[in-house]
Amino acid sequence: MTNNQKERANFGSKIGVILATAGSAVGLGNVWRFPYMTGENGGAVFIIIYIACVLLLGIPCMLGEFIIGRHGQSNSARAYRTLANGTPWALVGYMGLLTGFLIMGYYVVVSGWCLQYIWASLAGQLQGNPDYFSSYFAAFVADPFKPILWVMIILAMSHLIIENGVRNGIERASKVMMPLLFVLLLILVVASCLLPDAGKGIEFLFKPDFSKMDGDVFLGAMGQSFYSLSIGMGALVTYASYYSKDTNLTKAATQIVTVDSMVAILAGLMIFPAAFSVGISPDSGPSLIFITLPNVFSQAFASVPWLGYIVSLLFFVLLSVAALTSLISLHEVSTAFIHEDLQTTRRKAAFIVTVVTAVIGTFCSLSLGAVEGLSLFGRSLFDCFDFLTGQILLPVGGFLTCLFLGWYVPRQVVYDEFTNGGTLRGRFFQFFLFLVRFVCPLAILCIFLDELGVI
Ligand code: TRP
Repeated sequence: MTNNQKERANFGSKIGVILATAGSAVGLGNVWRFPYMTGENGGAVFIIIYIACVLLLGIPCMLGEFIIGRHGQSNSARAYRTLANGTPWALVGYMGLLTGFLIMGYYVVVSGWCLQYIWASLAGQLQGNPDYFSSYFAAFVADPFKPILWVMIILAMSHLIIENGVRNGIERASKVMMPLLFVLLLILVVASCLLPDAGKGIEFLFKPDFSKMDGDVFLGAMGQSFYSLSIGMGALVTYASYYSKDTNLTKAATQIVTVDSMVAILAGLMIFPAAFSVGISPDSGPSLIFITLPNVFSQAFASVPWLGYIVSLLFFVLLSVAALTSLISLHEVSTAFIHEDLQTTRRKAAFIVTVVTAVIGTFCSLSLGAVEGLSLFGRSLFDCFDFLTGQILLPVGGFLTCLFLGWYVPRQVVYDEFTNGGTLRGRFFQFFLFLVRFVCPLAILCIFLDELGVI
């Protein structure tokens, strides 16, 4: 065992474990991506399939990653490699590193937008009518400098937290901010649902129109469930390696999934009633929350503008924090790998990851209008990375992880981690095994084949 494994860091407390992992899960995926995916994929139908994916695929895949990570007690690439024993299964861990960089590349861009909106709230720029907010957003995103400046700032923040290590950085930040975000979200849901015509939005969210159901909806919902729960690229493997031996993995997974799904639904309830109320189309894509929310703030609080001002500021601060706690989980995956496997200091490792992400982030941001031709497969780099990671690479990562864990890893290893060395009853062990062996891989496969038009 190497030195740095002996000194391996740990989350300090049970609640720290939950909050840090929930901090990774809860982020832009819930508040930015979930609403726009829901809007683009027909509303209630998407939500129903999403919830089915979370329960059937999300919980077992998350648990699977926890098992690999806590068993491995190392960065995710090494955790897969050790268990793979010289077989190509080790590649699954490396694929995660690549996926992580691609996600980070555009995640920092959207996180940067949140920072800009904090600034805009402070400077009083977020006042006007819906048209103003649309053109404000369009002009900002296509600017060649401003968004990139914010990318650098959010990356610097994530870098600092990562450098400070697991317990003081990640855990402390999550403990304070996550509960606050939740409360503010509740307030905004109420404000949004009280707007005129809000009922249409609620109907869009909860009254399914099954004619909208097609392969795209399934693929979108499956991808979103992986994305939102941070599954499929080793983030959970890495975090679980910081769990203690007596953390009940099943319980942790269930709690995290519950919190994450609640935040997503609340975000939907915050956005859609408001969007319908001011006549913004629910399928306006990645710009949805950045145009809808400023409208909510200025309309719902029209009679008490100072309150709108504070709520808007607070909201974007907390959204940035949620983004940051997710960003650090993405950052940590490659940092831990470079630090532990390439024999560098943690600082240097973090620095390398930051620089690479800054470069990818810059290109992603520029691809949104500032520079022509930054596209792949007919989409801007930004959209391409979002689609490629969110709908392809994460589900593939989850698929391979299930097969690996269900069919290759010795059953005793899985059982020991599942039951904490036999101290827990492990009532659901057989069921879990059945899910990762058959149900999850088959379901993911079917959704892919369906999308490709094979079935
Ligand atoms: N789950 C985060 C969100 O909802 C994003 C995220 C963090 C992520 N780490 C990840 C997504 C790892 C996939 C894999 O915003």
